[in-house]
Amino acid sequence: VSPGTAYGLGVGPGDPELITLKALKLLQRCPVIAYPAPETGDSLARRIVASHLAGRRPIEYAIRMPMEAARFPAEAVYDRAAAELGAHLAAGRDVAVLCQGDPFFYGSFMYLFARLATRFTVTVVPGVSSLTACAAMLHWPLASRDDVLSVIPATLPEADLAARLAAIDAAAIIKLGRHLPKVRRVLAALGLADKARYIERATLPEQAIRPLDAVADDAAPYFATVLVHRRGGAVVP
Ligand SMILES: C[S@@+](CC[C@H](N)C(=O)[O-])C[C@H]1O[C@@H](n2cnc3c(N)ncnc32)[C@H](O)[C@@H]1O
Repeated sequence: VSPGTAYGLGVGPGDPELITLKALKLLQRCPVIAYPAPETGDSLARRIVASHLAGRRPIEYAIRMPMEAARFPAEAVYDRAAAELGAHLAAGRDVAVLCQGDPFFYGSFMYLFARLATRFTVTVVPGVSSLTACAAMLHWPLASRDDVLSVIPATLPEADLAARLAAIDAAAIIKLGRHLPKVRRVLAALGLADKARYIERATLPEQAIRPLDAVADDAAPYFATVLVHRRGGAVVP
């Protein structure tokens, strides 16, 4: 048999309608789907496509891994997933790997890609990223003119975060979760607190937009982002 193709499918930030036609068509014809999931609990990527899989029964494989950045990359998890999915591909079955947002924007799919692309045909289908989805939901254009847009993981040590944010025109701070208090301290110290906007679970039914100082220290989920613009907005002269 000729080997199957692996697809890294960007499924968008949360709203099931924010999936591309290309990803949707591939999703609905691949006999095997795989998706990252926390060690316990549901996969956001799987949830996003649930309505698109109604009446279909693909073979499913949850790639369970810790969501904590410090423990990335979980080599053994990806080795095992690559072996399992590789067996499907070798048997001629196409595999769709669901990627929340875009596969290559901080997506864990890249670790699987690195393992599969040496042996199989892999197609990466870009998706609507949370970066642009958060901007749209917040009515907060990301950057204009000569602005440099920085993407900064909140997981950085406080001093690094401060050094990075001190130099920004515009920034997206991702991977918030328990790092929110640290991010708030740094933004306040730099005089950027009132130029920042907070959003969690953008485009999902549970989406919440709150003033940054209204979120309790331990209340930010992992799927939360802060956008900052030094001028107080990309359209501010
Ligand atoms: C590992 S990155 C993956 C990003 C994803 N590949 C993408 O293109 O959006 C995860 C981070 O993206 C941000 N994020 C993803 N989805 C989000 C959403 N629906 N709302 C707000 N932030 C989100 C959060 O900061 C989260 O910690």
